[in-house]
Amino acid sequence: MRKKGGVSLLGWIVITALTGAIAFVCVSLWASRQAYLREAAVTPTPSITPRTVRITEDPARPTSTPTPRLFQSGSVGIEIKQLQERLKALGYYSGETDGEYGAGTKAAVESFQALHGLDADGVAGESTLTLLYAQSAQAFRETPAPTATPESKLLSTGDQGEKVVRLQQRLQELGFYSGKIDGDYGKGTRNAVILFQRQHGLDADGIAGEKTQAVLYSDQAKPVEVTPTPEAIQVLSGSLPLLVNRQYPLDDGFAPADLVNMSDYCDSSLVKIKYKDTMGVREAVDMLMEMLQAAKDDGVTNWQVSAAYRSIKDQQSIFDAKVQDYMDKNGLSRAKAVSATRKTVADPGTSEHHTGLAFDITVPNTSSFISTEQCKWLHRHCWDYGFVVRYQKDKEDITGFLAEAWHIRYVGKEHSAVMRDRNLCLEEYLDLLMRQGTP
Ligand code: DAL
Ligand code: ZN
Repeated sequence: MRKKGGVSLLGWIVITALTGAIAFVCVSLWASRQAYLREAAVTPTPSITPRTVRITEDPARPTSTPTPRLFQSGSVGIEIKQLQERLKALGYYSGETDGEYGAGTKAAVESFQALHGLDADGVAGESTLTLLYAQSAQAFRETPAPTATPESKLLSTGDQGEKVVRLQQRLQELGFYSGKIDGDYGKGTRNAVILFQRQHGLDADGIAGEKTQAVLYSDQAKPVEVTPTPEAIQVLSGSLPLLVNRQYPLDDGFAPADLVNMSDYCDSSLVKIKYKDTMGVREAVDMLMEMLQAAKDDGVTNWQVSAAYRSIKDQQSIFDAKVQDYMDKNGLSRAKAVSATRKTVADPGTSEHHTGLAFDITVPNTSSFISTEQCKWLHRHCWDYGFVVRYQKDKEDITGFLAEAWHIRYVGKEHSAVMRDRNLCLEEYLDLLMRQGTP
């Protein structure tokens, strides 16, 4: 055997191979961490297990999709160029794709929003962007003449006049509306429409479209169903749902009891647990499984849990990665990046995910949960199993977060039923109980 400096050729080959393997492993680990941080920073609800880093979203959104949260007049950059390209591809925009959010881009965003039942404010926020980049995004079509089509009958927030007066009167007659009959389609009218829609098996979007009005003015319209009083519920349940938000952070050292490892605990024929060792509180997980069994019985399958329990440290990593991403990709100052992040990611210590009672529900390999049949089923039925859709569009100013179609929170059936029937988010519901003197 030939020797080189006292080491055989075979020896050198072994040493070289080992060094190469170690270098490969180190580079792979580094690259995977970088990939996580990049992805976590561009997705709305990145999540990580207590031990393993993981990412959610409207978790299935492709990572290449630009995901700025709040683009509006004056915004500039590559993401605006991509936004313009997408609007152009769908036929809403015909100007230059110059990366500047000017009047033309704003008008295009408004048209897109109007055609998709969103508030046409010309600001490209979370809901708009989710729909815009979804496969189900509709191409531009001319708004038909006002009197000729179903759209002409559509009434929604901001509308005024005789038709709104009639709508309010009818809702009042049925017990859904108790505000002023002023012909102004404001928040109260919208809430009443949502309540009516929920109790009549209609899509609860708060817009009085053709279908909603057809039922409302027909014999099928039922008077409002009054739900049990919160006091009665309090006696039944014995405890109030835990409120966790910016005003009510968890105590230091809070740790939920009775966590189960969902990867082992859940029936994999009903749900895929996206990240191994995802934990959740047993009672909530049991109800989740009962709900998904009912969904299966209704023919709705293919569910995924993308996030459940998170430690403070997990949340901190997600928060920091998101801030960094806003700074790197949008050129925001740290202060601005932090406030943009706070629209979608809770500060560590204030996330519902710390309780083990919140779940991010998705569909495997699907880019936009909001446009799936699973989302529709979940939003209609979760209340019957003790869950609430925690962050809804019409409650954004109360919850402080942009709507999250995928985030459900277990509060117990007695509470979720009331919150559904009265269209109350958790803050409003607990506030109501307190004002009524329930401890
Ligand atoms: N995305 C939700 C608000 C959280 O971070 O808890
Ligand atoms: Zn969540």
